[in-house]
Amino acid sequence: MTPERGFVAFLALTLGLLAIVVWSGLCARRRLHLPCVVATVAALAGTIYFAEKMGAHYDLATAGWITPVHLWLAKGTTLAYLAPLATGLLTLRNPTWRPRHRVCAFVVLVLTVATAVTGTWMVLAAERLPALGP
Ligand code: HEM
Repeated sequence: MTPERGFVAFLALTLGLLAIVVWSGLCARRRLHLPCVVATVAALAGTIYFAEKMGAHYDLATAGWITPVHLWLAKGTTLAYLAPLATGLLTLRNPTWRPRHRVCAFVVLVLTVATAVTGTWMVLAAERLPALGP
């Protein structure tokens, strides 16, 4: 699988799973919510793996200011996933955490979409490096 195809496939999988995570959380379907959270984090790891492989094919500096913006956003979003994970565990122990878990979940959702949009923008604006080898 090429890095481009792998990236698009894992990004679509991550966004699809995230939609199921939000829906199952809102409907209080814990037996679906929790495995989907685990699957989302695994799909996110796959997306990051292919994004890094794909990035090596581009001169990202040529994309200009969007590159540092995207890279900071990507790191911040990955760290931000710790907030719904922590508040989710707290909600399991004490349901009064549920509204705070909801806020963290939606912040992560908005950051994930912003990361996907700026990442796509960066790759489209960057120059592709010539292929190496025979
Ligand atoms: C990316 C990660 C996650 C997202 C986007 C997410 C999203 C949500 C949303 C939107 C709700 C509904 C909140 C409300 O309506 O007030 C919810 C509920 C809940 N979530 Fe999560 N969640 C995530 C991770 C987790 C984790 C890691 C756990 C536990 C280990 C967890 C446990 C729960 C529980 C227990 C509820 C309440 C369900 C109920 O009332 O029965 N969530 N989640």
